[in-house]
Amino acid sequence: MSAADSASEKALWAAHLLTLFPEMFPGPLGHSLAGRGLKKGIWSLDCHNIRSFATDKHANVDAPPFGGGHGMVMRPDVMGRAIEHVIAQQPPKRNLTRLYPSPRGKLLDQKMVRELSQQEGVMIVCGRYEGLDQRVIEHYQLTEVSIGDYVLSGGEQAAMVILDTVVRLLPGVMGKQESHLEDSFESGLLEHHHYTQPRDWQGLEPPEVLLSGHHQNIAKWRHENAIEITTDRRSDLIAAYMAKKHLKKEDKD
Ligand SMILES: C[S@@+](CC[C@H](N)C(=O)[O-])C[C@H]1O[C@@H](n2cnc3c(N)ncnc32)[C@H](O)[C@@H]1O
Repeated sequence: MSAADSASEKALWAAHLLTLFPEMFPGPLGHSLAGRGLKKGIWSLDCHNIRSFATDKHANVDAPPFGGGHGMVMRPDVMGRAIEHVIAQQPPKRNLTRLYPSPRGKLLDQKMVRELSQQEGVMIVCGRYEGLDQRVIEHYQLTEVSIGDYVLSGGEQAAMVILDTVVRLLPGVMGKQESHLEDSFESGLLEHHHYTQPRDWQGLEPPEVLLSGHHQNIAKWRHENAIEITTDRRSDLIAAYMAKKHLKKEDKD
């Protein structure tokens, strides 16, 4: 794809994916919030087929690991050409954050997601087989990002998770109705419970305070509920939240 017809030329936040399976995209990213943002041009998605950068007659992209062992490793020469192609395509001032989804990476969290949403875009190199040759990771300074302590069969699924979490934070993607400020992790807490119509379902009623129309009491209940849930489910988060609160109080005193 030439720079001129690249979707990312017009959009504000650009995502470039290097993948062996470009047909997987946009997939879920073409729907709901992310899809709406994509259609509005708030973000762009360009997929680059790694195989088209192979030069031998079988279009090989992988080779056995030096030192022996099972599995195959993605060839650095092919990956290098693919990455250089994406870098060369960017407009002069666009700096893409370079990510490599990897189970060895830093665990994706809302802080990282927010930071990515404030940058200009990403290049995500999707691994397959045993992953990338280490020299490619180091040469292009790819940041390894994990989406959890388990092993996927490919980086594409992780790339979808990363992009979905980031693009929903881009200005204009979410309406007021879908504000993310109360989402889990935004305040350092898990979110409070939700209830909706009908009021009586299977003989079960929502907490009375939510029907009171008293905004302050509702906000207080939700905050206490969020504290209770976080305490119950995530001792790491509640400890960090309490420590931060304590620091803020000390600053004030
Ligand atoms: C079969 S995995 C390779 C796993 C690798 N041999 C290891 O044990 O660390 C193939 C690709 O899936 C992606 N992947 C697998 N698990 C992941 C995770 N938890 N988070 C992000 N990406 C993951 C990576 O891009 C990886 O190169």
